[in-house]
Amino acid sequence: MSTTEFAREPLPARILRKARALFGPTGMFMKGFAKNPVMVGAIVPSSQRTIARVLSPVDWDNARVFVEYGPGVGTFCRPVLDRLRRDGILIAIDTNPDFIAYLQATIHDARFCAVLGSAADVGEIIAAHGFVQADYVLSGLPFSTLPPGTAAAIMAATSRVLRPGGAFLVYQYTRFARRLMQQYFPRVDNGFEPRNVPPCVIGWGWKD
Ligand SMILES: C[S@@+](CC[C@H](N)C(=O)[O-])C[C@H]1O[C@@H](n2cnc3c(N)ncnc32)[C@H](O)[C@@H]1O
Repeated sequence: MSTTEFAREPLPARILRKARALFGPTGMFMKGFAKNPVMVGAIVPSSQRTIARVLSPVDWDNARVFVEYGPGVGTFCRPVLDRLRRDGILIAIDTNPDFIAYLQATIHDARFCAVLGSAADVGEIIAAHGFVQADYVLSGLPFSTLPPGTAAAIMAATSRVLRPGGAFLVYQYTRFARRLMQQYFPRVDNGFEPRNVPPCVIGWGWKD
């Protein structure tokens, strides 16, 4: 970009471009938030504490098909891939084409697959990869701000695709998702991580 073009660039775009250059994935995430705050729902990615806490009950020996909703810039993707079996697969689904392009360009792992789509279509998406069920589904979706009916549709689709004994791992900034999970999962364990911006409510929904 030339100096003249830069001078004509609106101030918010300039700030966002600088943030992206300065902070890498965090800057990219902030740009996504500025473009679509309702769908992104958080201004910065999850903390390392949150990642460790949310993933703590996963039985990695028995986690072959792992699905993530709303990966954003991949804050959880790398830690999941670090723990995942060599013959496992991580299918990350996001509605934001900028995030999907970013993940495809930055995560090079044969077990990783970034899909542009909605979590509500998880059944069709995993079927397209040759699977009927998932062992674990992880979600960073902003359930409480999604369009009407979407949260319930995603809960129902998730309870259908999980295998018995599998779990839905959910982190959010309100209790909304955890309350909704109780209608779809026979057992929901509760957690809370204060060292996150903002502090994070965690729910683990188990499919018996
Ligand atoms: C709070 S951000 C995720 C943050 C990220 N996982 C982290 O830990 O930093 C929410 C993400 O959900 C995505 N999203 C919103 N609605 C969705 C849907 N119906 N299906 C899949 N992804 C969705 C947004 O594009 C955004 O990337």
